Amino acid sequence: MHLSGIVTRLRAAGCVFAEDEAQLLISAARTPVDLAAMIDQRAAGLPLEHILGWSEFCGLRIAVDPGVFVPRRRTEFLVHQAVALASQSLARPRTVVLDLCCGSGAVGAALVAALDQVELYAVDIDPAAVRCARRNVGAVGGQVYEGDLYEPLPAALRGRVDVLVANAPYVPTEALGLMPPEARNHEPRVALDGGVDGLDVLRRVTAAAPVWLATGGHLLMETGEQQAPASVATVARNGLIPRVARSEELDATIVIATMPADDPGDRSRRRWFRESDALEAQNLASVGQASGSRSPTASCRQNVSE
Ligand SMILES: C[S@@+](CC[C@H](N)C(=O)[O-])C[C@H]1O[C@@H](n2cnc3c(N)ncnc32)[C@H](O)[C@@H]1O
Repeated sequence: MHLSGIVTRLRAAGCVFAEDEAQLLISAARTPVDLAAMIDQRAAGLPLEHILGWSEFCGLRIAVDPGVFVPRRRTEFLVHQAVALASQSLARPRTVVLDLCCGSGAVGAALVAALDQVELYAVDIDPAAVRCARRNVGAVGGQVYEGDLYEPLPAALRGRVDVLVANAPYVPTEALGLMPPEARNHEPRVALDGGVDGLDVLRRVTAAAPVWLATGGHLLMETGEQQAPASVATVARNGLIPRVARSEELDATIVIATMPADDPGDRSRRRWFRESDALEAQNLASVGQASGSRSPTASCRQNVSE
């Protein structure tokens, strides 16, 4: 099939960037039979990135397996903000980065590419995401853990994290049905569903963050613009200093929570955690969950408004 025929087929199937997609499929296909199968898959609504097996993110080629959340362009803003903050605190020889809800591992991999000397840890609850992240994060020397938020992390990491990034699920449950079919049908619900108000996971991330952040460390969470005030309130309730960063260009909102430089309350909370076991850590995390909801995710296809 010629380029123009492929473009016509993709356009008829609703692909907005039909020309670009056609070129990508042509260059990825090994044989004409391959190409025909890829065009059929795309016309049937499979995300382009799942067909190609990769997604471009922050100028990197990130492996993305079928069933794994496709990194969104919007989330590049989270990376930019994290790089700016990490670059301000160059006092330490290495930046300790924790990527919670890592999916393919795109955010952590991009931070390693942008910063010197990163010690990277990543966590996801979904085994398919963990397998995928091990390829992307493992390739840059990071470690990937499977489990619920902080639960699988080594205790030695407590109080050492300089940059904690979390593009967690943040779509309110009721809004899942409004999402584009590509996301609804081909990305796992656990990657999208943030509970009643979309903030369930973000509340749990925030509640336990003081235990893991280094003094002066930062937690950066992607959230919906409308969800930012509630996220800020959660951050403040947990003794962290909140700030909101917004990119109109990428339609991205980031809530940044900074660990105060000298907060005896935080210190005692950390001491309590060091004395407790992993189960107790999970109990603290669930305090935030009990009170709340969740939020929306990144870019092109996941946003509720799209
Ligand atoms: C919106 S996706 C974002 C993935 C990645 N951070 C990115 O930006 O491409 C959210 C991810 O959070 C993971 N997740 C959801 N709940 C989790 C939990 N309780 N603990 C760890 N990971 C979780 C999902 O499996 C999914 O991979």
